Amino acid sequence: MTSPITTDVTKALEAITTGHLCAIPTETVYGLAADADNPQAVARVFESKNRPTDHPLIVHVKDLQTAQTWLKDLPDWAVKLAEEFWPGPLTLVGKKTDHVSLLVTGGQDTVAVRVPAHPLTQELLTKLTKHNVTGLVAPSANRFGHVSPTTAQHVFDDLGPYLITNKDVILDGGKCQVGLESTIVLTTLSNPVVLRPGAITQSDIEKVTGLKVQANAQNKPRVSGSLDSHYAPKAQVELVSPDQVPNEKGAGFIGPSSVTVPANLTILLSAIDDEDYASNLYQALRKCDELGLTKVYAVLPNDSGLATAIIDRLTRAAN
Ligand code: TXA
Ligand code: MG
Repeated sequence: MTSPITTDVTKALEAITTGHLCAIPTETVYGLAADADNPQAVARVFESKNRPTDHPLIVHVKDLQTAQTWLKDLPDWAVKLAEEFWPGPLTLVGKKTDHVSLLVTGGQDTVAVRVPAHPLTQELLTKLTKHNVTGLVAPSANRFGHVSPTTAQHVFDDLGPYLITNKDVILDGGKCQVGLESTIVLTTLSNPVVLRPGAITQSDIEKVTGLKVQANAQNKPRVSGSLDSHYAPKAQVELVSPDQVPNEKGAGFIGPSSVTVPANLTILLSAIDDEDYASNLYQALRKCDELGLTKVYAVLPNDSGLATAIIDRLTRAAN
């Protein structure tokens, strides 16, 4: 059986334009992409992941101008965010234009859009324009509820047989740099609301917009990553304080390198800083299952900036 993994953008282009799926590298995590204007292909994205159809998808586009054919009535402050952080790990949720299918938005009248920064995916998006494909839906390319993939091999580990059977493709762009999913910002209220924390932080958003990020919106839209249990390995994740890490055989450790790890624990991640913690966290969570560990003790980083996103994901993984 031939591997679906390729570094050839032409193969990715062919997959998308013939209605197949293509896992794409981004700076955050790998996405499982399909032509956002092809209803059968979009339906297959849900099927492949076992994802409930009311969980809306993010549309990935080439640039801000293209984004505005999917999103309408963006307030000036949201345009400023896009100009500052695109291409990059930021997703904007706003009113959808008429051509956006309700299949993509899970029946909602808003749509989530982002411009990914990975050069291979940028190249793919640019080439797709010539085939009249201007948007790719792409959820993280993992089984629903599982840890997001940060390498092509992770995608294969979760979805390999399904992708082979259906002649789908994985575009290999190496390891994802950020390692955590994009920051999702709701733009339909007077102030920005962070629906999912990520590498673009609350203070980044406040600095650029000059507005206070609103903590909790009424009628906050559904975000699948906001289910209480998500991003979870098979192993049980338990959060502990730095001075209370048990010396337990058969268990793993994830935390900052400042923590002294007891001798019996398998070190899955000893992070030198928050960037290191974020970019290696999902790999570490997958590793504990590979090693057959049933328990992982995790020490959280101090809450500020990127650490907010790490804490969010680990807290859900521990649920
Ligand atoms: O970094 C990322 O955002 C990655 C890469 C592949 O781009 N994608 C990603 O997709 O994390 P996914 O599907 O795993 O998570 C997208 C989140 C979901 O939790 C979904 O509920 C939320 O975006 N979302 C999508 N459309 C929305 C909308 N109209 N309103 C509120 N949330 C929305
Ligand atoms: Mg996901």
